[in-house]
Amino acid sequence: MHKPLPETVIQAHHIRVRGLDICPPLLQAPMAGLTHSALRQIVSGFGGVGLLSTEMLLARRLPTENPGMSPYLVRTIGERPLSYQLLVSSEADIGPAVDKLHELGADAVDLNMGCPDWSVGRSGAGFALMENPDNACRLVAAARRRTDLPLTAKVRLGVGLDEPRLKEFCAMLEGEGIDMLSVHARLKKEPFARRPRWEWVARIKEWLHIPVIANGGIFTVEDARKCLKASGADGLMLGRGAVARPWLFAEIAREVYGSDIAAPCVSLPLVYGRFTDLIKELFPPERRLGRLKEFTHHFAGNYPFGHQLSSRIQGSRTMTQAEERAADFFKNNPGDPLRRPEVP
Ligand SMILES: Cc1cc2nc3c(=O)[nH]c(=O)nc-3n(C[C@H](O)[C@H](O)[C@H](O)COP(=O)(O)O)c2cc1C
Repeated sequence: MHKPLPETVIQAHHIRVRGLDICPPLLQAPMAGLTHSALRQIVSGFGGVGLLSTEMLLARRLPTENPGMSPYLVRTIGERPLSYQLLVSSEADIGPAVDKLHELGADAVDLNMGCPDWSVGRSGAGFALMENPDNACRLVAAARRRTDLPLTAKVRLGVGLDEPRLKEFCAMLEGEGIDMLSVHARLKKEPFARRPRWEWVARIKEWLHIPVIANGGIFTVEDARKCLKASGADGLMLGRGAVARPWLFAEIAREVYGSDIAAPCVSLPLVYGRFTDLIKELFPPERRLGRLKEFTHHFAGNYPFGHQLSSRIQGSRTMTQAEERAADFFKNNPGDPLRRPEVP
């Protein structure tokens, strides 16, 4: 059983875990197809993010991936600090995967225990680990033995609201050496449209001694304030809100945490153009259009008629066609973002 290290420090605007400063305590949520180098570079450019994230990475495949070629692993020097999220179900895969993360220069290792997708669950990974605490326990213990990096986990609230079960699970994670816990405050089958249960993060915080991060449904500075009030969380994790608005970290950092960074100056067409340039620079041709479609799905929510942009890009067959259609849309819609993005 590991006790949290004495060096774990939580202050109002700052979390320190095993020597890693997360300042401000604003974390990027791992998102498949979205939290790659292009988005991370844009988010970092605006500032205000305390910890960036990769997409979930298959632990079994990771050791043989080429970091120079893999669209999941490609990164630039400015994308720091960066947490790598593992999707894992077998203890045998932990060691080689964690070793690879050491080679890649990971700043933290996160274990995915929240993904409810059937295809992930059938292999015993993601949320299935919350349904199989014995295996979760073995994986955490194996990862803890293998690394001195900050080791974190991301969970949901459970299948149903079962407080004793959730408490036991979270306490097990802490006992086995998890340094920080992110909580997507929804149940397994609850859709993203449902209001997140931030008040449950407050309960989890009462049970644990490690930093607890609240995730789910933060799209504006006001949401961040409400979430902090309801959850008392040590930090916030932003997903879709900071895809639609990569400058949301900077806004929350300034207005909620008082960070001394420049107010974001946003031109929607420029942000979109920069994203397009980066994916062309970073990804092989066959990977580009898919990434652009994923991003556009969220980014289009900044416009009152964003579905027009979204459906034109979704229907594009080539990158060139997508770029032409986007240019055409922006010619007629240069405007300011909506106060709150439409959530797709
Ligand atoms: C497209 C998409 C991909 C996601 N991929 C992952 C993932 O790889 N790992 C993970 O732990 N959660 C994943 N999530 C969940 C997010 O990390 C986050 O918990 C969820 O979107 C709620 O936060 P939000 O309301 O701020 O978006 C994904 C969510 C979306 C929408």
